[in-house]
Amino acid sequence: MNRFKDKTILVTGAASGIGLAAARRFLDEGAHVLMLDNDEASLKKAAAGLPQDRVLVHVGDTADKATATAAVKAALDRFGGLHILINNAGVAVEGDIMQTSEEDFNRVMSVNVAGYFHMAKAAMPELVKVKGSIVMTSSVSGLGGDWNTFAYNTSKGAVSNMVRAMALDAGKDGVRVNAVNPSFTDTGMTQDMLKDAELVAKFKERMPLGAPEDAEGVAAVIAFLASEDARLVTGVNLPVDAGVTASNGQPPM
Ligand SMILES: NC(=O)c1ccc[n+]([C@@H]2O[C@H](COP(=O)([O-])OP(=O)(O)OC[C@H]3O[C@@H](n4cnc5c(N)ncnc54)[C@H](O)[C@@H]3O)[C@@H](O)[C@H]2O)c1
Repeated sequence: MNRFKDKTILVTGAASGIGLAAARRFLDEGAHVLMLDNDEASLKKAAAGLPQDRVLVHVGDTADKATATAAVKAALDRFGGLHILINNAGVAVEGDIMQTSEEDFNRVMSVNVAGYFHMAKAAMPELVKVKGSIVMTSSVSGLGGDWNTFAYNTSKGAVSNMVRAMALDAGKDGVRVNAVNPSFTDTGMTQDMLKDAELVAKFKERMPLGAPEDAEGVAAVIAFLASEDARLVTGVNLPVDAGVTASNGQPPM
């Protein structure tokens, strides 16, 4: 497939995990990709083996709105336009509300929510010109609650409704806005969880297609939502969760 030939795609959190898998997928399908991350060393390493004529790395913190403006400008300067934004960079902290410090809460919200806002706001004027689209990585944690994940759940719930609200307004300009909602995926974020055999076994019980998910499988759905194949789809939160949300919450009987 070559669905993204001559398209420019900005992917945040592109040094690792789902963002890196998405960047690779878009490149495989012919796109120009601006890979944005705040981890400079990992970003350069990740981009090293990729087609340099179609890749631009950009270091910045998405919580800082200056990063968003600079990254969009860099995409325009290098590739001449911007067609698709993948809002994906995210952070997680554990803890219930009593264990969550104000500092941790603010950091999670500033990256996972304000960061998505800054990037979308900076990209929209360009996306309107080309009837582009946005895909945001939310989470199953944005569709329902998890135990001991207060700040992260709060932020992903906001992302899930951000796409609905944006989709309603952006439709008149022909811009589509959707989310993927993964469950437990093998990425940098989950390396500690993956070492916990008991926890992995609990996830396997809850995920009919098995656990953990692979980042490439999530990236494939991001690519679908970003593509013309999904031209009639907007405002959707699409679980990419190996079946977790098919459950009503009762235990296996
Ligand atoms: N891994 C999972 O199980 C899972 C499940 C559901 C949703 N998600 C979501 O997927 C997205 C990608 O995470 P991942 O699992 O691939 O983790 P990851 O840690 O492998 O990748 C996240 C990337 O984002 C970058 N990043 C973090 N904060 C940033 C910032 N402020 N500015 C720029 N870059 C920043 C990191 O450096 C890293 O390269 C996140 O939004 C996460 O919440 C992950």
